[in-house]
Amino acid sequence: MCPDRVEFNRPLASLTTYGLGGQAWAVARPDTVDQLRRLMAWAAARHWPVFVLGGGSNVLFSDQGFQGLIIRLGRGFQRLEALGADSGRVVVSVGAAVKTPLLVARCREWGWAGLEFLAGIPGVVGGALAMNAGASGGEIVDAVSSVEVMWADGRVRRLARTDLKPDYRGLGLPDDAVILGAVFDLTPDDPPAIKARIRDIMVRRSQGQPRGVKSAGCVFKNPSGESAGRLIDRAGLKGAAEGGAFVSPKHANFIVHRGRASSADVTRLIRRVKDEVARRHGCELETEIKIIDPTGKRMEP
Ligand code: EPU
Repeated sequence: MCPDRVEFNRPLASLTTYGLGGQAWAVARPDTVDQLRRLMAWAAARHWPVFVLGGGSNVLFSDQGFQGLIIRLGRGFQRLEALGADSGRVVVSVGAAVKTPLLVARCREWGWAGLEFLAGIPGVVGGALAMNAGASGGEIVDAVSSVEVMWADGRVRRLARTDLKPDYRGLGLPDDAVILGAVFDLTPDDPPAIKARIRDIMVRRSQGQPRGVKSAGCVFKNPSGESAGRLIDRAGLKGAAEGGAFVSPKHANFIVHRGRASSADVTRLIRRVKDEVARRHGCELETEIKIIDPTGKRMEP
């Protein structure tokens, strides 16, 4: 039997910041852990791949769509509450479906320091955790006390920070683990001081990164000790285009479009950038964004 809250043949474009991609066989928005578990079992019984989508700010779907079930966590995963404060710390519980900008706004209003670097990063907390989002010298895992996950067999577990094996852009969890939420260990601070730090980050971001175009943020991971953007820039690729997709003239690690690109244009341009950077600098760039093929596998163009 089909569980509730499933939409069939759902176009994917409006679910990602890139605004690209074909249709998914099904998209569901479970509100509870039980609904999530039933959906996973339902897809498994059909041998459908499952992809858990956060805010869609780091994902590129194929023009051919997705032959399986996309899950977006719903209302039951939107808690955001302080569990307590003592000895100069505040412990905050946050559901995976909470939008990162909302979390940053609450930190600013309620005087919780430690997550300012998330300012200006779109998406949801589950996605930021899955990618171990980082910017301005910080990584989300640095503020994590524990993470709640559902394993593929439906069991829910809370993993302490010491159980995680984070790396650059990952928490070391299996691909089929679903992050349900996290507890953060933050520091009380004056809201005006937090606000000032957030403002500085936002100013730097708006000066150095493109606005008013569609993107998924930085496309490539930074190679150790280098900036992918600088390497692409030095290879003379700013403005390089494939179809409607082009390398941002403002920051070369952003591949952007103005609404007239296909997903294939973006992947062709990624391949071209990789080839040219390898030729010029002898360096193999690796994608940071998740490029998902129709069968649910992550692709590296
Ligand atoms: N640079 C260039 N040309 C460019 C882009 C950058 O020469 O086109 C130079 C800059 O002048 C600077 C250096 O490269 O000297 C580093 O640039 P930037 O400060 O923009 O940092 P980044 O390493 O390119 C990283 C993150 C960003 C994050 C910024 C700011 C990665 C892959 N990127 O960028 O994250 O916003 O730091 O903290 O880790 C993202 O993850 O989606 C993202 C955009």
